[in-house]
Amino acid sequence: MSALRNSRCTERNGDAAPAVAAPDLIPAPLSTGTTAGADPYELTPASTLAAGPGGEGAAAWLRRELGAATGLPLLPPAGDPGTAGLRIAVDAATGKELGPEGYRLTAGPEGAEVLAGGPAGAFWGAQTLRQLLGPDAYRRAPLPGRTWRLPAVRIEDRPRFGWRGMLLDVARHFMPKDGVLRYIDLLAAHKLNVLHLHLTDDQGWRVEIRRYPRLTEVGAWRPRSRWGHRASPLWNETPHGGFYTQDDIREIVAYAAERHVRVVPEIDVPGHSLAAIAAYPHLGNADVVDTAALEVWDDWGISPHVLAPTEDVLRFYEGVFEELLELFPAEVSPFVHIGGDECPKDEWRASPAAQARIRELGVAGEDGLQSWFIRHFDGWLAARGRRLIGWDEILEGGLAPGAAVSSWRGYAGGIAAAEAGHDVVMCPEQHVYLDYRQSGSPDEPMPIAYVRTLEDVYRFEPVPPGLSADAAAHVLGAQANVWTEVMADQGRVDYQVFPRLAAFAEVVWSALPAPADRDWPGFEARMTAHYARLDALGVGYRPPGGPLPWQRRPGVLGRPREGAPPEA
Ligand code: ACM
Repeated sequence: MSALRNSRCTERNGDAAPAVAAPDLIPAPLSTGTTAGADPYELTPASTLAAGPGGEGAAAWLRRELGAATGLPLLPPAGDPGTAGLRIAVDAATGKELGPEGYRLTAGPEGAEVLAGGPAGAFWGAQTLRQLLGPDAYRRAPLPGRTWRLPAVRIEDRPRFGWRGMLLDVARHFMPKDGVLRYIDLLAAHKLNVLHLHLTDDQGWRVEIRRYPRLTEVGAWRPRSRWGHRASPLWNETPHGGFYTQDDIREIVAYAAERHVRVVPEIDVPGHSLAAIAAYPHLGNADVVDTAALEVWDDWGISPHVLAPTEDVLRFYEGVFEELLELFPAEVSPFVHIGGDECPKDEWRASPAAQARIRELGVAGEDGLQSWFIRHFDGWLAARGRRLIGWDEILEGGLAPGAAVSSWRGYAGGIAAAEAGHDVVMCPEQHVYLDYRQSGSPDEPMPIAYVRTLEDVYRFEPVPPGLSADAAAHVLGAQANVWTEVMADQGRVDYQVFPRLAAFAEVVWSALPAPADRDWPGFEARMTAHYARLDALGVGYRPPGGPLPWQRRPGVLGRPREGAPPEA
């Protein structure tokens, strides 16, 4: 490899034509150089793959993925690992310079080497190496007659943010385990590293809790679902449901960890809790509503039925979180998401028991009750070495010390939290809610809310202007949220998520300029190569020209809104 390091490099826009151009990488690396006149490295049955210290996981993954796509064994070399065609290792100097997720990839006629700051960087470098081999490297079996050439390149890369996430709402529509594993692979292919799983809501409870079996026996099922937005008169009469067993969750968490993706679980309290109340009616406000008659919701929106502010309810959820903490070890996910969004206070206003509780606790009305709930779990999680994260409503009534905020109603909550020294994940609905429609065309399936195009997402900026440098350091990163009311199956999820997730990935990984200065035509041109990768991966993305006939849902009402979304 030393000859490679000494070879002359030209920057991408330099005048010497590369022997094989680097394919259009997404997300764009920090810097790419092509080696003038150098031949590509061709993978053959004799090609070997060696892992240096810290590169073992990435090498094993690459051997599996490329082995499937190319049919080549890519065995470790018999002798000196330095002679391997492909080498992946962690290197302290690279770590110092580029951080644990950074890497340098050098490829030339003799082979390719990834030197990374840490095991995660080794894995992202391996992902880049796969991209360099072309779209067929994403297939699961070799096509006949293919040759596999790595262009002569030098890439230096590291992410802009440490939290590069996607929320998947598996409560409104359950995504079976295989689909979640597939999404972990899709996130990893885009160098995203957080999967926020929205596991509970009014419409379903999706994780087995051994001590409370009714949460899934009752709470994971509903007899039918509204078909379209809640204004739609249509119903899908097919019963819907499903949940992850504890072993399924362990598998998901381990599969994600192998790919350097952290899974952040969300149990939403004290609102969005009807599925739990339907399973265990004592969780609800039984003095104002016949909670025994409540059922898992078949409709969309915000249910008025919320948890009762009792010690009993706290103990119940401590039981839930105790099991959850075992399933999501701290090394994998220090953060536990407790929701906290959209909790209607009508039941608490009407409930003599809740009102007595307000007086007893000496809190400021119903908002104070909500904040009492959140603070309790903040302390409870902190005592167990974990960190609470919640939606920006947890700011109301005073943010618990140590809590982090998912800023969804715009930037404002995130700005306030960051200026107060709290960590923030930016996921403003105005920019990165992927359930929102992608075009103003009447052909968009079940169109929800405002038009958010691929270009809009490409121009999303996680750090709003005007944030002080100290506060900006509290922006851990950003997250694209995928709420699934109108996404009953994987095809609909793919359609809403892609291609916009590719733009989002570049926003959170790459060092892009300010939104107005971003090279949108350049990104759009690189997307041509990326669509071919998504095709090979079997992703049902929205084509640039609009939905294919089977991606439409004629006659099913959504809820489109006109104009630009108002910023909170
Ligand atoms: C949310 O969209 N209610 C977090």
